[in-house]
Amino acid sequence: MKKQEKKTEFQWTKKDLLSLYDLTAEEIVCILDTAEEFKKVCQRNVKKVPALRGKTVVNFFVEASTRTRMSFELAEQRLSADIINIQADVSSLQKGETLLDTVKNIEALQADLIVMRHSAPGSHKLIAPLIRCGVINAGDGAHSHPTQALLDIFTIREKKGGIKGLNVSIIGDILHSRVARSNIWGLIKLGANVTVAGPATLVPKEFEKIGVRVCHNVKDALENADVVNLLRIQHERQTAGYFPSTNEYAAFYGLNQGNAKYLRPDALVMHPGPINRNVELSSDIADGPQSVILEQVTNGMAVRMAVLFLVAGCVKK
Ligand code: CP
Repeated sequence: MKKQEKKTEFQWTKKDLLSLYDLTAEEIVCILDTAEEFKKVCQRNVKKVPALRGKTVVNFFVEASTRTRMSFELAEQRLSADIINIQADVSSLQKGETLLDTVKNIEALQADLIVMRHSAPGSHKLIAPLIRCGVINAGDGAHSHPTQALLDIFTIREKKGGIKGLNVSIIGDILHSRVARSNIWGLIKLGANVTVAGPATLVPKEFEKIGVRVCHNVKDALENADVVNLLRIQHERQTAGYFPSTNEYAAFYGLNQGNAKYLRPDALVMHPGPINRNVELSSDIADGPQSVILEQVTNGMAVRMAVLFLVAGCVKK
């Protein structure tokens, strides 16, 4: 299949990966192409290369995670890095230490990369210019989750042969979703047509200003979509009642047997996880033939290996 965005000669120059908003289309394609090479490593019997031997990576998760954290840790192991995991609830953040002091101490221990998840939007942008270590954003509040969007885009490119001209619909709690924002920035840069859909309270018209089509009717979002990405209701970030009940949300905005007839037979069904089964997505579709949800998880390792490898190459000693 034709890879219309493929560029092989591009030289990566950034020591941090903070947001897809900051990247050019060429930089995004560079990560995707590098991930293709690492996917081949992940398919070998011995899934390990010495690319980060002698480098230290600190995984600093100040917010809950299953997929992202495991995926980064496995990616680091496959690159032969030395790894330290820090959890916020047992770190000195609990004793009043500032985030900057914590990461300065990580730097003083000669770490090369910090992979951080934090509930405060912009926290990575605050620390990255102040430390020598490379900083990789593993999610900051409702703002950005660049490696999730990269693995989503990688999976779409792998399945569809390219991104340009595809119709991608993202359905759910767009307002509170870092995954939605990151996908929108990346997909638009690569030439996709993006629709966002859900209740007006969670999908405000303002999103049109960043170049997406906004609709409040799931049928409109499903028809002609090459890719449908379902998002969870982010209860942990909501401060108000944005819809009357979960049952009504599932009935009006969930993808289920009632509205699956509007899905194209070749449409991909995606979800970043964790899924709330039978709310945004019914179990039969989540586990059905159009679902690539677990392939997204698998691809996440290759994408994170690519990101770790590229940024590590730009960290000064
Ligand atoms: N998709 C995602 O970020 O999942 P986790 O919160 O489990 O890392």
